[in-house]
Amino acid sequence: MVQLTLPQNSKVKKGKTWPKPQGATNLRSFRIYRYSPEEGGNPRWDTYWVDMDRAGTMILDVLIYIKNNIDPTLAFRRSCREGVCGSCAMNIAGRNTIACTKGFEELPSGEVVIAPLPSQPVVKDLIPDLTNFYAQHAYVQPFLQTATPTPEKEWRQSAEDRAKLDGLYECILCASCSTSCPSYWWNGDKYLGPAALLQAYRWLIDSRDEATGERLDALEDPFKLYRCHTIMNCAQVCPKGLNPAQAIAKIKHMMVERVA
Ligand code: SF4
Ligand code: FES
Repeated sequence: MVQLTLPQNSKVKKGKTWPKPQGATNLRSFRIYRYSPEEGGNPRWDTYWVDMDRAGTMILDVLIYIKNNIDPTLAFRRSCREGVCGSCAMNIAGRNTIACTKGFEELPSGEVVIAPLPSQPVVKDLIPDLTNFYAQHAYVQPFLQTATPTPEKEWRQSAEDRAKLDGLYECILCASCSTSCPSYWWNGDKYLGPAALLQAYRWLIDSRDEATGERLDALEDPFKLYRCHTIMNCAQVCPKGLNPAQAIAKIKHMMVERVA
């Protein structure tokens, strides 16, 4: 897998090292990316010593502990704390994932480095600006489109057709996959990226949807779809165990089939 921390992170200057708590016997250090537009925007790495007997088991617990007990200025996103909302995605020990389900015990020993998702502008500290990411999601029109009149009760679907959506609908839009993809790093303004394309495929194969041709037309250009080079970082990092690269391959297959 390609290293997921962008090289410019190594040029970020060293910041403050917070003092070790007194009397703690289970200490671990965390090096955390700090950036604040109000302070002139110069990024830095701050180091925090955390008593792991008090901080909880997940990386999000550690961040909340730091914010509540050491440094209230640390900024990060979170909502559900259960791997459902996707808002706590960040780069932890060189790998994109969601902090609320990342167990501290799963990480290698030594200092834990935590940075925002790579390749996106940073709003503050661990909070990336996902405006472009969400716009790409909107571009694939992630909703049912039909031409036939709406049925009185509901759009029906067989159990077999419903099963085709498994492995696709579970996406929580955390952006771990897209921001781990080197193709997306270099062409994120034109390549839709794995997350948006996974959703594109989710609607392309929905038996109830009647806009397949238009959906494929919208993806038919040299960048939006075809910048996937099967690097597979997306599938390796997805915290929900999904495989966007496979979905992209299936879209490419649909493109070929409709020409043939
Ligand atoms: S496919 Fe996985 S990694 Fe990508 S946005 Fe969805 S949940 Fe996150
Ligand atoms: S806080 Fe919702 S996924 Fe982590």
